[in-house]
Formats: sequence, structure tokens, C-alpha cells
Amino acid sequence: MANIAKLFASRAQCVLLAAARQPQVATRFASTSGNWEFIKTEVAGEGKNVAVITLNRPKALNALCNGLMKELSTALQEFGKDKSIAAIVLTGSEKAFAAGADIKEMLPNTYSQCIQGNFLNDWTEVARTQKPIIAAVNGYALGGGCELAMMCDIIYAGEKAKFGQPEIALGTIPGAGGTQRLTRVVGKSKAMEMCLTGNMITAQEAEKLGLASKVVPADQLVGEAIKLGEKIGTHSNLIVQLCKEAVNTAYETTLQEGLKYERRTFHATFSTADRKEGMTAFAEKRPAKFTNE
Ligand code: CAA
Repeated sequence: MANIAKLFASRAQCVLLAAARQPQVATRFASTSGNWEFIKTEVAGEGKNVAVITLNRPKALNALCNGLMKELSTALQEFGKDKSIAAIVLTGSEKAFAAGADIKEMLPNTYSQCIQGNFLNDWTEVARTQKPIIAAVNGYALGGGCELAMMCDIIYAGEKAKFGQPEIALGTIPGAGGTQRLTRVVGKSKAMEMCLTGNMITAQEAEKLGLASKVVPADQLVGEAIKLGEKIGTHSNLIVQLCKEAVNTAYETTLQEGLKYERRTFHATFSTADRKEGMTAFAEKRPAKFTNE
């Protein structure tokens, strides 16, 4: 137990040291150039500090083909390195966030190809992203689409969004976290019902179950998600990253280990300039000026 606590503490310290070593110069990456086949990228918000990645394969309802997933990973990595970006919004079209993995593309796959090519192993970039990432889900979020949304940190849903894991109807099962993340969020009974029937749930049900944190009119969805990203961006990016890791730890470990990790990370914030500035600003009754250090 004590060793795990030490490991967690050193993980938190590594994050702080790595962040301190990063150059402070803001760099603009190709991800903002719009030079993509299956996605669109832009930088939004008053301070231009929220990246918006839009899945853009409308004819196939944003089915997640290999090319799209590669572009998404690249854009996430590039925005991840961009010091001027505080949060990322991932969205689709009004009809579909994403209708799942590309069924036609994976149809010819064999078992040995799946095993030897480690099929779907390269889908994890969303979950690996260190910056806060908000899924703005309009329309269908099915199969891999629902899984992609669940890899994000926060889900905002448009009023007509539909979530589901319909893989069972294709003679397969969810392969990118559907049986695992969904169960942790909505509990065994509802996850079983969704995965075994393939039935979809509405945005309103998703909110009630805690899968989505807010339901908004479809045409305001991306704007609301950007506002949320901007609000997060008013805080220290460094401390936001630590906080995100602490919340994620709740999904990956026991309560006791999670509490130790949280406590040590809380202690670690006392080595940062931003913790000092935040508390000093409060005492001096002025807004904090964070430097992400
Ligand atoms: N893969 C490939 N193409 C897809 C697709 C998918 N997941 N979902 C939709 N499309 C294509 C359709 O084939 C169709 O293309 P054509 O015009 O060339 O025929 C086009 O998108 C529009 O789709 P529909 O005509 O079916 O649209 P609809 O409004 O009638 O129905 C829908 C919408 C209910 C979402 C329906 O398209 C559907 O059921 N899609 C499949 C959903 C699904 O099963 N997802 C799970 C995939 S498996 C997976 O994701 C595994 C994993 O865990 C990673």
C-alpha cells in the first residue's frame, strides 16, 4: 500500500517537473490549418484557447474509419502540445456525433488480423489526452461513437442525441470500452440492458444516468461546450491537469488508493507558483493571474 502511495506521489511530481520543463512559448500547430480529410479543426473562444475538433464524414454518419481515427489522434497530439490551448471540444454533425466503427471497413477482418494488428489499440488517444476534453454530442453516438464520447472527460448532449452500444446486433461486442466505461458510469443493470439489446437511450436519459452532464438545444451545443472549455481555461492549466488525473484515478483504483493519490497530489500543488498565486489572490481580494507553473 505504502509503495503504491509513493508511486502515485512520484507520478504527480513527474507531471509537475515535466510541465515545468516545457518551453513557455505558445506554438501553433498544423492542427489549426484545416488540412484534413475526415475532420475539421479550429480554435475558438474569446481568448482563442479552446480547440474544436469536428468529425467530418457526413455521408457515413462519421463512421470511425482508420483514416479518421488517425487524423483525430494527430490533431489531439498537436493540440495537446500547444501551450495556448486550455481545453478541447470534440463534436460531430447535428445528425451524428459518430455512428460507430466503420462496419464496411472492418467487415473483411479476420480473427488473426485483429490479434496481430491489435485492432482498435490506436483508438486510445482521446483517453490519453492530458488536457480536458469535452464531447459535444448531437445525434447518434453509437458503438465506437458512444465509446469515443465516454473517453472524453465531460459529455454535453444535444436534445436529440442518442447513445447506444448496438454491436450485439452485428454479432460482435463493444471493443473500445463500451462494456467497461458504460458499466462504471450507469451501473451493471442499465449497461447490460444497453449492451445486450442494442437499444439506444435519449439525451435526457443519459443525463439522468450521469452519462451526460448537461442537455442543451442542438444549435447551442457546441457554443455551450466552448464556454465550458473557456471557464476551465480561466484556471491554471497545470492544476487542471493534476485535477483531471485525480478524478480519472477514481476509475482506475480502489477508494483507499485513490484517496492517497488525491492527498499526495493536493500536497504537490503546494510546490507550484499557481497554488501560491491562487490563495494570495483570494486573500488580497483580486483575480488570480496564473502562469501554469
Ligand atoms: N459504418 C459504416 N457505415 C455506416 C455506419 C457505420 N457504423 N453507420 C452508418 N453508415 C453509413 C450507411 O451505410 C449509409 O451509407 P450509404 O448511404 O452508402 O448506404 C450512411 O452511413 C447513412 O446511414 P443510414 O442510411 O443507415 O442512415 P439512417 O438514418 O437510416 O440510420 C443509423 C442511422 C441508425 C445510425 C444506422 O446507420 C446504423 O444503425 N448504423 C450502424 C450503427 C452501429 O451498428 N454502430 C456500431 C458499429 S461497431 C463498433 O462501433 C465496434 C466498436 O466497439 C468499436
